[in-house]
Amino acid sequence: MDFDHVWESVADIPGWLTEDQARMLWDAVLRLEPGTTVLEIGSHQGRSTVILGHASRAVGARVIAIDAFVDGKLFGGASTRDLFEANLAAAGLTDVVELVVGYSTTLRPDWDRPIDLLYVDGKHDYWTYTDDLRWSDHLPAGGEILVHDCYSSIGVTLGTIAKVLFGSRYTYLDRSRSMARFIRSRPRFADRLRVVAQLPWFSWNVFIKILLRLRLRRVAGWLGHHGPYDPF
Ligand SMILES: C[S@@+](CC[C@H](N)C(=O)[O-])C[C@H]1O[C@@H](n2cnc3c(N)ncnc32)[C@H](O)[C@@H]1O
Repeated sequence: MDFDHVWESVADIPGWLTEDQARMLWDAVLRLEPGTTVLEIGSHQGRSTVILGHASRAVGARVIAIDAFVDGKLFGGASTRDLFEANLAAAGLTDVVELVVGYSTTLRPDWDRPIDLLYVDGKHDYWTYTDDLRWSDHLPAGGEILVHDCYSSIGVTLGTIAKVLFGSRYTYLDRSRSMARFIRSRPRFADRLRVVAQLPWFSWNVFIKILLRLRLRRVAGWLGHHGPYDPF
């Protein structure tokens, strides 16, 4: 299947992934070799997993999808697992995608399988996100890491400032809205400056979030932000 058909096929799977962001995931998987492994943290109902799964099938890779299926009004708990499994079965991807149910932070310390591409979209607080970045220990040097809600979530952005802007392990490449792409390599000064250049957009997103918390959705709409969700 080509990207356009795959994107069409996820139209009815609820989630927060835009078409351009799905394309970034798709392209990242297509850069992999046969026999490689994609690891996704945070699958929800499988919108991104189906994209990763079809792309993986095209190159002969596999996907490991980690989700704790946490309860809460946004994510929906155990019934979300049923929806995830039904969506993956309907997509014909059960032979490509392996689901691992659990908390990424609990699973990581004992993990011993190599991975070739890391996609982080789990819990967005600083501590979980920076722990999730450490799954990159299992990537080859230069391996790609995609992160959703970067420069929109406060926790993820603070983690990016600490570990990418002021760290020495990750280089920021580019983004589509909040989908950011990094590689596991030591950043140069110019790479760090590119992180700084994203911070005005982050400030704007925080401003929109404040409007939404104050129930000023209409004002957010005048400013170009539509819908009930935080910017992503
Ligand atoms: C934003 S959603 C993922 C959306 C998904 N990538 C998509 O495209 O639809 C976040 C998911 O992360 C899961 N999650 C939250 N904390 C987690 C953790 N510590 N470990 C694993 N999964 C977690 C939630 O259960 C939820 O399904």
